Amino acid sequence: MYPSTAFTTVLASLWTGIAIAQTSDSTNSASPSTVSSNTSTAASGTSSAYSQSDVPTGTPLPGNYAGPLRPQVHFSPPVGFMNDPNGMFVDQDGLYHLYYQYNPTDTVAGNQHWGHATSHDLYNWTNQPIAIFPGGPGEGIFSGSAVIDVNNTSGFFPNQTNGVVAIYTLNTPERQTQEIAYSYDNGYSFIKYSGNPVIGSNSTQFRDPKVIWHEATERWVMVVAYPVDFEVGIFSSPNLIEWTAESNFSHYGITGLQYECPNMVELPVVGGGEAEDSPSTLWVMLISINPGAPLGGSITQYFLGTFNGTHFEALDSQTRLTDFAKDNYAGQFFYNIPSGQDQVSINWASNWQYTNVVPTGEEGFRSSMSVPRGHYIADLERFGLSMISYPYNISSVVDTELASNSSLGNGTVAVDYSAVESGALYFEANVTGLPDDSPLTGTLNFTFMSSASGESVSGGTFISSGDVWFNRGNTEGLASNPYFNNKFSQTGLYDGSGSWNISGIVDRSIIEVFLNGGQLSASSVFFPSQPFDLMILRVAGLNENASVSVGVWSLRATWLDQANINGTVLGNVTTGNDTGATTTASMEAVKLF
Ligand code: FRU
Repeated sequence: MYPSTAFTTVLASLWTGIAIAQTSDSTNSASPSTVSSNTSTAASGTSSAYSQSDVPTGTPLPGNYAGPLRPQVHFSPPVGFMNDPNGMFVDQDGLYHLYYQYNPTDTVAGNQHWGHATSHDLYNWTNQPIAIFPGGPGEGIFSGSAVIDVNNTSGFFPNQTNGVVAIYTLNTPERQTQEIAYSYDNGYSFIKYSGNPVIGSNSTQFRDPKVIWHEATERWVMVVAYPVDFEVGIFSSPNLIEWTAESNFSHYGITGLQYECPNMVELPVVGGGEAEDSPSTLWVMLISINPGAPLGGSITQYFLGTFNGTHFEALDSQTRLTDFAKDNYAGQFFYNIPSGQDQVSINWASNWQYTNVVPTGEEGFRSSMSVPRGHYIADLERFGLSMISYPYNISSVVDTELASNSSLGNGTVAVDYSAVESGALYFEANVTGLPDDSPLTGTLNFTFMSSASGESVSGGTFISSGDVWFNRGNTEGLASNPYFNNKFSQTGLYDGSGSWNISGIVDRSIIEVFLNGGQLSASSVFFPSQPFDLMILRVAGLNENASVSVGVWSLRATWLDQANINGTVLGNVTTGNDTGATTTASMEAVKLF
């Protein structure tokens, strides 16, 4: 996002509406030759946290989750400001760990710590104590990742197979370097490695290491951004301490003004492996760009390709985007989901163009994450190979069926959901019986609105063209902000299968929309002055023999369910470990019809 010194300039320009120039005082070109590795494997270090009187250690910050804009099935921090998801891994008990860029002392970005939360189902989160603290006032613990060092390659864990190593960027006014910290207690507390940095530099533009274990070469592999050089560095290591620069992936796709938060992940390909030239998996290189996204500010692009342990080779020169709206950035994939399975990511559901001024600041917090997204690769009509992105395991928070009609045809479903505590809904509309020998016709639209103020968000799909659209313009919050675009659209293409599907999750101040099971997706925040309480879903002009099945469900109030009478969630104040009950929630994609 920024060298920290430039941050106040960024904020000031947001407030005055002047176009943001993300400054870079880069001295770098942190090419592989500038890298120094530390060869010591001594497992000593410090759990250093400098004392900020209003930042507790060993206990989570309490937060009030009762505000009208506070999402109930999306993760948001108790108080303060959150940006990128960090360090995501699933531990050996199946517990998901989410860390995040966290400013616990203000509702704007800065003062970066690693906040921490855990979940068994990726929706019911337990706030944990802050996991990694800066070591002094000039420091920020910037984005990074975490791995489980099962085989003790680092030497930190002679007596356990569940040692966790976090790899992150230490940001100072002088430089950004890659550091590690290790955890004996499953990721609740970390000790900074005494030999840090593990990758040094003299640059202020070298950040966001994401590490995976590469089975074929039996090496750790890191992707890390040289933001203003538009390069992703690929490093390898036998032990997480000594790193070798292997290659650079540079100047691909949309460069914007910075590359940030790279990820590399291997995904299953549907139908792959059947013919000789069709692989059963493909590698995906994801690069977040900010500023300079096509719709303004930040967005994430990805490239499909192969990876041999040292080099990522793109299959083609096509730039693909993860989302068609504006609030999907810096996504990260969970470490330790078995290969061959759909992989799961969580994204930051905001945009650097307006994140520091969104109205949730009045409720004491800013930003939420996306719902977990499941991913695989499919070969789509005309688009070709694409990364599918669907809401993962949403069935674990589905509560009550509010409406269902299995043969709607052309018609309307209206749902008054004023009595739903969460204010959060999941809906699906499946069109079947579409002809393959005559032109498609019809529209399927939805509106969520406040019966008190008349504000609304709406969206839908033109089945004839395959277009999907979304409009957040009829809401008051940020209405005059020049960067808060109102309308988004994209085109899917009918593949002749006879069916068409749209689904979505609306959650007080965020909506996520999915076309055809995640062939296209959008995350969008919105800020009404009054809570929404009415949903209208309307189908019109459908082909004669086509019919529609519609379902609308309330979602659980995962945060209010753990709040006291005032709406305050204390988080895990009892032990260093997660206290939530173990569930057996299915990790299958939801199939409610
Ligand atoms: C992306 C980013 C990262 C950086 C972090 C700082 O949003 O700018 O590049 O590590 O945020 O909070």
